[in-house]
Amino acid sequence: MNISKPKGTKDIFFDEINVWQYVEENIIKVCKEFNIGEIRTPVFESTALFKRSVGDSTDIVNKEMYTFEDKGFRSITLRPELTAGVVRAYIENGMSSLPSPLKFWYRGNMYRYERMQKGRYREFSQFGVEIIGSDSNLADIESISVAYALFKRIGLSSHIVISLNSIGCTKCRNIFIQALKEYIKPNLNKMCDTCKVRFEKNPMRMIDCKEKGCKDILAKAPVITDYLCEDCRVDFQGVQNMLKALDIPFVLDNTIVRGLDYYNKTVYEITSKDLGLSVGGGGRYDGLVSILGGVQTPAVGFAIGMDRVVILLQQLGLDKQISKKVDLYFAIIDKDAEVISRKITSKLREMGYVVDIDIQRRSFKAQLKYADKIKARYVCIIGKNEIKNNTCIIKNMEDGKQLEVKLEIDEIINRLL
Ligand code: HAM
Repeated sequence: MNISKPKGTKDIFFDEINVWQYVEENIIKVCKEFNIGEIRTPVFESTALFKRSVGDSTDIVNKEMYTFEDKGFRSITLRPELTAGVVRAYIENGMSSLPSPLKFWYRGNMYRYERMQKGRYREFSQFGVEIIGSDSNLADIESISVAYALFKRIGLSSHIVISLNSIGCTKCRNIFIQALKEYIKPNLNKMCDTCKVRFEKNPMRMIDCKEKGCKDILAKAPVITDYLCEDCRVDFQGVQNMLKALDIPFVLDNTIVRGLDYYNKTVYEITSKDLGLSVGGGGRYDGLVSILGGVQTPAVGFAIGMDRVVILLQQLGLDKQISKKVDLYFAIIDKDAEVISRKITSKLREMGYVVDIDIQRRSFKAQLKYADKIKARYVCIIGKNEIKNNTCIIKNMEDGKQLEVKLEIDEIINRLL
């Protein structure tokens, strides 16, 4: 029986893993520069955590969660996102007593039972940042700045669009929802079945319906930004002014409402035209800490879909510059060279060079063929004569030129530069 991987998952290796590591290395660098600390939380949590935070009426909770009963009869869910887990950890570990605000970053696999397509998986990876404890819109700016800095660092800033909206506070949003429902009510029978359900359960989500008929009706619907209270209006204007001043490009889009229930005020979606997909999203979620049982604490954050970022880098051909090269391959012709070549290999590796060496006692021809296949820049050849003369031959694999040098680390390095 052939067992294959579950639908919606993938194996990542060879060239693709280099692209993942490139993104991950840049995440670590950027987060260090922003003084953001990493947090790691469990891959599975109590189901109630997601029901309460992401929201009972969302697609994620209703249709997409991997939920099961464990052997102790507890309802467990594989995390569909990580904001809830970070906030749970914040409360459970008494972090509200620590100097505020706290800034966390994470990277990990998430699980959503979604319909498979390119860029949409059932196991996928997110990089995210959560800033807990600041109600200033400067924290919104900081979070958007981290996301933008990462895209800039990996060469994608001109390939993404940050779409910004404000969904206000509960007070102004409720007034807007009232107006939206009044506008939609006479046309409700013409809307799709999902919108009919959302009309009762989660009216805001009707706004980003992708059905043509619903879109037509919604084109003239009231927009949330016209209903913002003074506080939310000033806050949102401040975010826009600061982004402009910092040269972080964005567009305003009042259809951005996000698919999770915990948001308020500024929300955003980061999309890629080349992929036709969202590569990230986030916003403010001032109510979540208290919803999950902590003291009222404002917070803001985002998550980026790493699988989609990797696909984008590949699609744009930017992955070609990323692939890691082998600096040197040691081809050993004579058994007596095995120890000395391994000693030199260790030294070069300690110095940060990527060095590979024969581990099969293959023929010289086979070793050269292999060195060519792994795209080694140089091959170091040591045979009987070279041992006798305390030398080695360095072959440039690009132009085929060979040079005999002393079997000394400095001499070999000089050839690699
Ligand atoms: P989200 O919009 O649900 O937000 O997910 C963020 C990103 O994860 C998406 O923009 C997308 O790139 C990626 N993503 C989502 N589902 C899939 C999938 N099935 N396959 C591949 N990639 C996917 C959140 O998860 C929030 N927790 C973000 C946040 C953090 N808000 C505040 N803090």
